[in-house]
Amino acid sequence: MPELKRRWINGHAHALVLDYHQRGLPASASLVRKRDGAVLVRWSLANGTHPRIARKRPPLPSRDLLGEMARLEARFKAGTAAQRLLSRQPRRKDWLQGLGVPTEILRDYRLQRCDEPGELVEAGRDRGGRSLWLTPAAARAWLRMSIAARRDGVVLEPVSGFRSAAYQRMLIARKRARGLDWDAILSVSALPGFSEHHLGTTLDLHGGDGAVLEESFENTAAFAWLSAHAGRFSFRLSYPRDNPHGIAYEPWHWRFHPQAGQ
Ligand code: DAL
Ligand code: ZN
Repeated sequence: MPELKRRWINGHAHALVLDYHQRGLPASASLVRKRDGAVLVRWSLANGTHPRIARKRPPLPSRDLLGEMARLEARFKAGTAAQRLLSRQPRRKDWLQGLGVPTEILRDYRLQRCDEPGELVEAGRDRGGRSLWLTPAAARAWLRMSIAARRDGVVLEPVSGFRSAAYQRMLIARKRARGLDWDAILSVSALPGFSEHHLGTTLDLHGGDGAVLEESFENTAAFAWLSAHAGRFSFRLSYPRDNPHGIAYEPWHWRFHPQAGQ
């Protein structure tokens, strides 16, 4: 069964969100009530596609919003399109099949397996305007941390959060098709199934100015702030210089390590 869940989110707008899966990726249908009372129905996929606004509605009172969501929910339960797609999702080990990773690389591979979580929530937008997906605990920690940074005059912009193993596989296949060798690819990208981005707890961050996902990020106010304060919010840099994982220095890549009770 795909995960069908209703939840309210409160932010710049109120929304009732129905989470489901499409092609094995978390997706959501949202009814968003704007301040002026207009209601938008928005479909979002977590695989990098832009949220699509399907219909714009005239203003609806909240009770009608609930009715509308019940109709949407019934459509997904009855239609089972999402269920069929989900059942075709390859098993975990299959993410590597057909990629042609040399066996000696797999034998010596130093990254840990990272599974996708059962629940993701939309924690705002990334700097490209796409939905930012994180686990609920990571989303709370991220929002607290970004607010604290802003209070200190520091901008933290998410470049990416959750990435599925399917998406990671596509990124790597694309690099192979461009002719990059395995050493070059795997010094900057994890194999599908091994990226901390699959966990929904990990963010690539940017400070608003300058190059994105470049080592020069270490010279920014954002990086200095993160180095001093991210630990308070349970975020840690995963790939410092000369790390033992065989990954190049990534000053932008921060993973949330939940403490007991978080
Ligand atoms: N860039 C990091 C290693 C990842 O692909 O997860
Ligand atoms: Zn990253």
